Amino acid sequence: MDILSASILDLGPLQQIERASFDADRWPLLDLMAALTFSDVVRLKAVVDGHMVGFIAGDQRASKGLSWIATIAVLPQFRQQGIGRALLEACEAKLMTPRVRLCVRTDNASAIRLYEQTGYQRVDMWYHYYKDRADAMVMEKIRGL
Ligand SMILES: CC(C)(COP(=O)(O)OP(=O)(O)OC[C@H]1O[C@@H](n2cnc3c(N)ncnc32)[C@H](O)[C@@H]1OP(=O)(O)O)[C@@H](O)C(=O)NCCC(=O)NCCS
Repeated sequence: MDILSASILDLGPLQQIERASFDADRWPLLDLMAALTFSDVVRLKAVVDGHMVGFIAGDQRASKGLSWIATIAVLPQFRQQGIGRALLEACEAKLMTPRVRLCVRTDNASAIRLYEQTGYQRVDMWYHYYKDRADAMVMEKIRGL
């Protein structure tokens, strides 16, 4: 498995990963294109046998000393093999801010476990944040840079 920079050329595979990974919370096409093109976004893909199987985008807000993991997803058949963790750690290594945040559905146990294992702690709750009114937990990791 390789972790490589992603670009707009990865839009098709990214759409497939999104479709396989999210239901109502799936990003619209324009948001995916933004994640693949905007400056200040760290965008990485996990590649197995030449195929993109996972993606992460980290949005840097340098003036606030804070980055947000905007999205992370791995194709279902490639989960539980350490790819999500590898993507997260590779993205964090490229982010230049001392704090990294993300938000996650409170019912997304596997994602929350991954974040806890990698040092994120709950700092806030956004109630009824998602389209189906599910709550979001905001988690943060503070690194010594
Ligand atoms: C969240 C997500 C990205 C995690 O990706 P993943 O590749 O499965 O993550 P990892 O494999 O690194 O870690 C997940 C689990 O695999 C385990 N694992 C890691 N390496 C492993 C290995 N070599 N063999 C077996 N299990 C392993 C981890 O310990 C962890 O186990 P646990 O959940 O039982 O504690 C993935 O589940 C996903 O795409 N979900 C849908 C989209 C989503 O919800 N994104 C998050 C939005 S906030």
